[in-house]
Amino acid sequence: MIEFENVSFSHGGGQVFRGVSARLAPGSFHFLTGPSGAGKTTLLNLCYGALRPQSGSIKVFGTDLKGRSRDQMAMLRRQIGVVHQDCQFLDHLPLLENIAMPLLVSGKEFSRISGDLKELVAWVGLSARADALPTELSGGERQRAALARAVIMSPDVILADEPTGNVDWEMSQRLMQLLTELNRMGKTVLLATHDLSLVRVAKAQVQARVLRISDKRLMLAGADL
Ligand SMILES: Nc1ncnc2c1ncn2[C@@H]1O[C@H](COP(=O)(O)OP(=O)(O)O)[C@@H](O)[C@H]1O
Ligand SMILES: [Mg+2]
Repeated sequence: MIEFENVSFSHGGGQVFRGVSARLAPGSFHFLTGPSGAGKTTLLNLCYGALRPQSGSIKVFGTDLKGRSRDQMAMLRRQIGVVHQDCQFLDHLPLLENIAMPLLVSGKEFSRISGDLKELVAWVGLSARADALPTELSGGERQRAALARAVIMSPDVILADEPTGNVDWEMSQRLMQLLTELNRMGKTVLLATHDLSLVRVAKAQVQARVLRISDKRLMLAGADL
C-alpha cells in the first residue's frame, strides 16, 4: 500500500531520513513513534507526496509518486485521508461545512451529501456541535472533526499525525476506538504519536505494528515497548 525504498530526505536544515525502507500492507495498522523532532510529521508528508525525497522511491497503491502528473496526485490525495497535527480548519465556517469541505471542493452539492454527512458526524459524536465554529470547540472535538473530515472521501489510507495530541486520556481512547473501527473496515492506518502509553494500551485492542524512528531510520519496535 505504501512502500519506501532507500528513501533519504533533508529539510533545509539537515537530514531527517537516511536510507529508509519500509512496507505497509493493505489493511494494516501501524504506529509511528519517536521523540518530538524525530521526523514523524515529515514521514507522513512523504507518504502522500506533500514532500518529495531527495533519493529513493516511494510507492503508494503500487505506483511511484515520482512519475505522477498533477491530476494523478490530486486523485491520490482523495484516496488518502490526512489528520493534520494542528487540524487546520476554516475558522469562519461551521463545523459541518468544515467536515464536508473535501466533498464540496470535489464538486458535490451540499444537499446531496447531507445524509451521509450527518451519519459521519454522529459517528464521531459531534451531532450537537454541527453548527459551532471551529474556535468554539474543545481539543477533543477538533480532533474528532479532523478525523471525520479525513474520512469523508472514503479513503483507503488514513494518516493521522498525533491525533491524540491535545486531549485527555479518555478522549484519546475514544479517538483510538474510531481509528480501530476504520481499520476493521479495511482501511490502512498509520498513526504518528510520541505517546507510548497510548501505544501500549492500544496494542491490546488492535493488531498493530510499531515503527520507531531512530537515528534517521525506521525500525520495527521490539517487545520492549
Ligand atoms: N519545514 C521545515 N524546514 C526545516 N526543517 C524542518 C521543517 N519541518 C521540520 N523540520 C525539522 O525536521 C525534523 C523532523 O521534524 P518533524 O517531522 O516535524 O518531527 P516530529 O513530527 O517527529 O516531531 C526536526 O528536526 C525539525 O526541526
Ligand atoms: Mg510532528
